[in-house]
This record gives sequence, C-alpha cells and structure tokens, in this order.
Amino acid sequence: MTDTDLSPEMREPHFFGRRKGKPLRPGRARLMEILLPEIAVPAGEDPLDPAGLFARPVSAVWLEVGFGGGEHLAGQAAANPDVGIVGCEVFLNGVARLLSLIDGSPATQTVRVLHGDVRALMPRLPEACLDRAFVLFPDPWPKLRHAKRRFIGPDNLPQLSRLLKDGGELRVASDDMTYIRWALRHLIDHPDFTWMAQGPDDWLGRPADWVPTRYEQKALRAGRAPIVLRFVRKPRAR
Ligand SMILES: C[S@@+](CC[C@H](N)C(=O)[O-])C[C@H]1O[C@@H](n2cnc3c(N)ncnc32)[C@H](O)[C@@H]1O
Repeated sequence: MTDTDLSPEMREPHFFGRRKGKPLRPGRARLMEILLPEIAVPAGEDPLDPAGLFARPVSAVWLEVGFGGGEHLAGQAAANPDVGIVGCEVFLNGVARLLSLIDGSPATQTVRVLHGDVRALMPRLPEACLDRAFVLFPDPWPKLRHAKRRFIGPDNLPQLSRLLKDGGELRVASDDMTYIRWALRHLIDHPDFTWMAQGPDDWLGRPADWVPTRYEQKALRAGRAPIVLRFVRKPRAR
C-alpha cells in the first residue's frame, strides 16, 4: 500500500493527545451530525481559499489552533462579526462544545471548523492568507523527551510564518514556564517574527481584546499566572 492509498485521516501527522472523552450528550451528538457538516472545512488535500470558506464576505481571516471547548473562538467570533475564523481541534468533545456555543448565532456564517489536526490543514492554505493565528494553552509536553511534540517549534513555525500576512499576529499563551521559555527561544530565533512586547505588562497582562479560555481559568484557579506572547510576522523581502 502506498501513502496515496491511505485516507486523509490516516495520512494526518501522528497526534499524541486525546481524541475523545465521555460519550456526547444527544444534543451535542446531533450538532456533530447536522451543524458540523454545514460549517466544516472541506476534507481532503485540495488547496483551499480561506476567505472563500465563509457564508459571507469577511474582512480578515484568523486561525485558532486547538480551540479546546471553543470559549475563546466563540467569544472572538461574537466580538468580530466581520472576521472569518477557522478553528481546528482534534478532541471530539471540544468540537461538539464549540458547536453548542455558536449554534443558532451569526457566528455559524463566519466560523469554519476542522475536526482534525491543523498540521494537515496548513499546507493546503496559500501563503500570506492569515491576519492572525492563536495558539492558546497548547499541550505543554513538559518532559524534555517529548519536546518535539510542542506545537510552537521548528516543525510548525515555518508554516505559521508562511501563512501569516506581513504584520499578522501570532498569539501564544501558556501557564507552563518550560513551554514559555521554549516558545520564546524558537520565536526569537526565527528570522520572520518580531516580539511585540515592550515590557512585563505586555506578557503578564492581557491584550484589550482578550477572551478567557478554559485552560487559562484552570491555571488561575491553581495559582499559576499565564503568560501571553504576541509576535508579528515581519514584512517579506520584495
Ligand atoms: C491544553 S488544550 C487548550 C485548549 C484551549 N485552547 C484552551 O485554552 O482552553 C490544547 C488543545 O489543543 C488541541 N490540539 C493539540 N494539537 C493540535 C493540533 N495539531 N491540531 C488541532 N488541535 C490540536 C488538543 O486536542 C487540546 O484540546
């Protein structure tokens, strides 16, 4: 069997996290059957025009990697009705929860969902198509021997750099200081990104348009102070 005989799902990069949790409640299972197909990013490997995915014209396109329960994505969609947001999440229960948050709202026109691994989506998108990318509380993989699994790093930064427009923002948050140090090192070393921070208020505080996430709340309850890193994509050489 060759690689091209495999279904797209089987060709996805190996994912080390959880794909599903408890059985879905009937309402959420129904949303997976009815709403998800209406707002899903088309499966397959064909190139995609992200702005063309949405039910109406959008002024900007954002990507959220690993949206978890979707609180941030749904909040940003409600606050920015002219922005199209593509959200990717492997965890079935998280996808179903996002659907429950946006069901019946105008966000169903401006949110598109990939229930799957964002690493399979990124190569299908054209260069400089994103105004913003969010990677919020990514799985920290704190053990050194698992460091290669950390999303921010040498495997994914080249794609994020390719996809972001000049001046586009990459926003990363974590309450795991090993992860923050790791992400900072890889982002600062990367030639295409500039750190927007002027001082501690910028990484200890929250951007004005911040929407809290579930993992952020968990960290705060446990007494850990999350850090927010904001980088911009440098202008491309002409
Ligand atoms: C720790 S949770 C954080 C969820 C959410 N961003 C929050 O702050 O509450 C990380 C999420 O990223 C998802 N994830 C990790 N790698 C991913 C990938 N390559 N593509 C899509 N989702 C991914 C996991 O399934 C998990 O739900």
